[in-house]
Amino acid sequence: MAKSSPFAADSLSIPSMLLFALMVFTILHRTAAQTGVCYGMLGNNLPSAQEVVALYKQNNIPTMRIYDPNPQALQALGGSNIELVLGLANPDLQSIASSQANASAWVQNNIKNHGNVRFKYVAVGNEVKPSDSFAQFLVPAMRNIRTALAGAGLEQIKVSTSVDTGVLSESFPPSKGVFRSDYMPLLGPIIGLLVETQAPLLVNVYPYFSYIGDPQGIGLDYALFTAPSVVVMDGALGYQNLFDASLDAVYSALEKADGGSLKIVVSETGWPSAGGGEATTLDNARTYNTNLAKHVKGGTPRRPRGPIETYVFAMFDENQKSPETEKYWGLFLPNKQPKYSIDLN
Ligand SMILES: *[C@@H]1O[C@H](CO)[C@@H](O)[C@H](O)[C@H]1NC(C)=O
Repeated sequence: MAKSSPFAADSLSIPSMLLFALMVFTILHRTAAQTGVCYGMLGNNLPSAQEVVALYKQNNIPTMRIYDPNPQALQALGGSNIELVLGLANPDLQSIASSQANASAWVQNNIKNHGNVRFKYVAVGNEVKPSDSFAQFLVPAMRNIRTALAGAGLEQIKVSTSVDTGVLSESFPPSKGVFRSDYMPLLGPIIGLLVETQAPLLVNVYPYFSYIGDPQGIGLDYALFTAPSVVVMDGALGYQNLFDASLDAVYSALEKADGGSLKIVVSETGWPSAGGGEATTLDNARTYNTNLAKHVKGGTPRRPRGPIETYVFAMFDENQKSPETEKYWGLFLPNKQPKYSIDLN
């Protein structure tokens, strides 16, 4: 009788085949859950865009967010396989909202002319408040960019906008999350457009700012994903970290505003390593970002199906930002050295 290898197909039991399928699934799932990084450029000592793209590749960072269509960055991203969230900056909203031709030119120059860049979303506006003079231009600008993309056959590039958690009037417990009533004239049409076009809402989520706003009431471990057990019970849902609680407060608010079908993409989150007192240490920054990357492979209590698409703020320390605490959010120093060892995968 011929000896059969233990790995021969006819000797594979059903359970071992299932196990193999599970392993393959896990590997693919892991790959999909990788965390992106925001490439902010407000520093006068940052490396060239080519060097930055090389650094993303070297560190297996699969996705990038930029805040405006920087020509050097778009050029450097060509052929790189890095997926891109492209920003349309607040000062440009009026011209894009007021003229479809301007919106189409923007899409032509910054997207169509870069056919070898993998665009994922256009983030039209960042943290626009109803009191901003340009707030009235946000939704029309989103619509014009959407129309321009559709006209160019690029509807798969979704149009969204980035909000911060200041849009909530209540966020505790998470199920009580609700949008500020004075924001609804702005948010209502945004939510309507996102539902209609099946685009995600981009949300900048900063447990750090919540923590420093109430350090007596919020445990540092709850903010850093290191609490040993559930900290907040909300009905049947238990919260062990502030990130999930913040995200679920926005999900609750969306449910109350006809946006329950929307997915949230975390378009910024992070922790500063210096510049803001006791909580801003290298150790806390490493702890937050390391735990974040692990955590977002799964979901939140309210939306348990993960992964959570997430962008860490930011790639570099940026010396032209102010106040002081805004300068030290980078994973890397401007000389490309990592500030601490971290694996985002
Ligand atoms: C369209 O863009 C041009 C060039 O930036 C600008 O001068 C013009 O004011 C814009 N049109 C509108 C209606 O905003």
